[in-house]
Amino acid sequence: MGKPVDIAIIGAGNRGCKYLHLLAGMPDKVTVAAIVEPDARRAAHAATILRNAGLPEPVVFADCEDMLSDCSPTAAIIATPERGHYSQAMQLLDKRVNILIEKPVATTIEECEAIAEKAKEAGVVAGVCHVLRYHPYFSELIRIATDGSLGEVVSVSHRLGVGIDRACHTFVRGPWGIPRLTSSMILSKGCHDLDLVTAITGSRAEKVYSVGGKHFFTGEKRPAGAAARCINCTAEKDCRFSAVDLYRRRKEWIGGFIPADSGTVAEEIERQLREGNYGRCVFACENEAVDRQIVTVAFENGAVATVTMNLFTAEDSRDTHICLTGGEIHGNGRRIKIFPLRGEKTVIDFSDQAEAPYHAGADKAVLEDFIKAITTPGYKMLATIDEVMESHRICMLATV
Ligand SMILES: NC(=O)c1ccc[n+]([C@@H]2O[C@H](COP(=O)([O-])OP(=O)(O)OC[C@H]3O[C@@H](n4cnc5c(N)ncnc54)[C@H](O)[C@@H]3O)[C@@H](O)[C@H]2O)c1
Repeated sequence: MGKPVDIAIIGAGNRGCKYLHLLAGMPDKVTVAAIVEPDARRAAHAATILRNAGLPEPVVFADCEDMLSDCSPTAAIIATPERGHYSQAMQLLDKRVNILIEKPVATTIEECEAIAEKAKEAGVVAGVCHVLRYHPYFSELIRIATDGSLGEVVSVSHRLGVGIDRACHTFVRGPWGIPRLTSSMILSKGCHDLDLVTAITGSRAEKVYSVGGKHFFTGEKRPAGAAARCINCTAEKDCRFSAVDLYRRRKEWIGGFIPADSGTVAEEIERQLREGNYGRCVFACENEAVDRQIVTVAFENGAVATVTMNLFTAEDSRDTHICLTGGEIHGNGRRIKIFPLRGEKTVIDFSDQAEAPYHAGADKAVLEDFIKAITTPGYKMLATIDEVMESHRICMLATV
């Protein structure tokens, strides 16, 4: 086995730390050489992950440019909010660093194309964390739809239920509630789904139509007498969107609540409820993100597809119905049912993996594929920027 690949993590938040945990388990393949993270609390937390794994602590920088003037990593994972991806990717590619970039690649198609072009000029790998491509259930769904055994794909009807807890945390109270500072919800969340649909149809889009909007989490819908913060609200006990219920009672979505030096997570939850963004009433957040959207795509090869995305589902869920000239496939995220137009129905059960951590192993699989592409001449990873460009283009055309 060759020397481990030295890698820099750009952005040690939710995704960056997930990758750090996984990389800490592959010391024969990877050395984490540097972390770029401007938030001191998060940087310290990230360094702890490696320390706890008995690995040397990486050098920490507040800025990608500073890191590049001091270090020459072979590879970098860009896990910052998407508005930073373009400049960070271009700086890294200037130094011929192989990049694995979180989705969405960037916030305009021109930026995505420029990154892809520069990676080609630099002769390095440019992969994207489109983890569903590596997910056991979704990769099997794509394989069955595209291996020709059921004929040609005619239509895809796909439903993305964001799940109300994720929706309130990320898209109403969280940073993705303001798309002009992050990206549209169909790009930030739905790019996985449009990517699945393009992988299934195997074609470029000819026409894209989209309808949707924000109608519910607005000031006009705020119940009479509701306080600006759930912690002070008399309606909190019966509110389906209560931050007190989500964070203090159920202790969900608190992974990003990193306490101050000597503090505890419980104290950080209370601080958020008292004064942080995550303690706000969902009707008082002034978010701008859509809460429902339908995208319809006509593909050049004649296939048609709809993707329906909405916030109002009890759980995160994805459901896909595919009609082909020789059969029908229905996947509900747990089971894939295959109905040939002639012949026996088959069911493939992935229920045991539906709740498995790290996207059922897909987060690790994308890292391994990236490392293999760097270390194996001629090997091309599955989720390259070129591969996912079409789904990004559709998301950008569909932004309402
Ligand atoms: N593949 C997936 O399934 C998946 C899931 C969630 C999020 N994401 C994507 O991952 C990216 C990061 O999301 P997240 O949830 O980890 O966000 P996050 O806010 O938890 O983490 C981002 C981190 O980047 C840091 N940062 C900000 N500016 C920086 C800069 N200039 N240089 C270095 N670090 C900087 C922040 O301080 C923060 O710690 C986004 O593009 C998001 O859409 C992907």
